[in-house]
Amino acid sequence: MLSNVLGKEILGEDALASSVAEFGVDLPDAATTQRLGRRLGQLCPPGTVLLLSGDLGSGKTTLVQGIGACLGIAEPISSPTFTLINEYLEGRIPLYHVDLYRLEPEQVSSLELENYWGGAETAPGLLAIEWSERMLEPPPSAICLRLEAISGGGRRATLTAVEEEQIALLEKVIGDGLLADEI
Ligand SMILES: Nc1ncnc2c1ncn2[C@@H]1O[C@H](COP(=O)(O)OP(=O)(O)OP(=O)(O)O)[C@@H](O)[C@H]1O
Ligand SMILES: [Mg+2]
Repeated sequence: MLSNVLGKEILGEDALASSVAEFGVDLPDAATTQRLGRRLGQLCPPGTVLLLSGDLGSGKTTLVQGIGACLGIAEPISSPTFTLINEYLEGRIPLYHVDLYRLEPEQVSSLELENYWGGAETAPGLLAIEWSERMLEPPPSAICLRLEAISGGGRRATLTAVEEEQIALLEKVIGDGLLADEI
């Protein structure tokens, strides 16, 4: 169920302080997690970086499956825990699905993930990173999405962004007074 927008918060008082926008949404079941993924897949432009975090089994892959369905990717999507990166190129835009679970933070740089958001060799697409907590230097334009279990068996998603373009995007994803079954 779409719930309240938690609001924007100005962190710090000096001139360099960042403005972080945070949005929360309750996802009572896996189908709603997929619907949130579909909505992100619909609205995120190529070049979007989605930093997924949350415990084992919190629903990160389920969300990416929703993104894949929305982009028209027929191939089954599962956590790339061992392959680290799966590339799906058959959809409306490329989907790059990364899982950093098995890596230490200092090993992540060897994957050169920056190629996916700034590289000339990689077609711009949507980069979704599970266990993104392991990244030492995520791009400031990234959208963070944290999943946590809530009572009743569902999940709560907390989405944050710092840059204006991504904040506007999250307002569209979560805002607009959308009902749960419209996600
Ligand atoms: N909102 C939800 N409410 C209840 N169950 C959910 C919800 N979203 C996903 N699930 C279920 O949680 C289980 C684990 O989901 P998933 O594999 O997506 O987690 P994950 O975060 O990718 O795990 P891992 O860290 O191991 O990769 C699945 O059975 C899925 O159907
Ligand atoms: Mg997973």
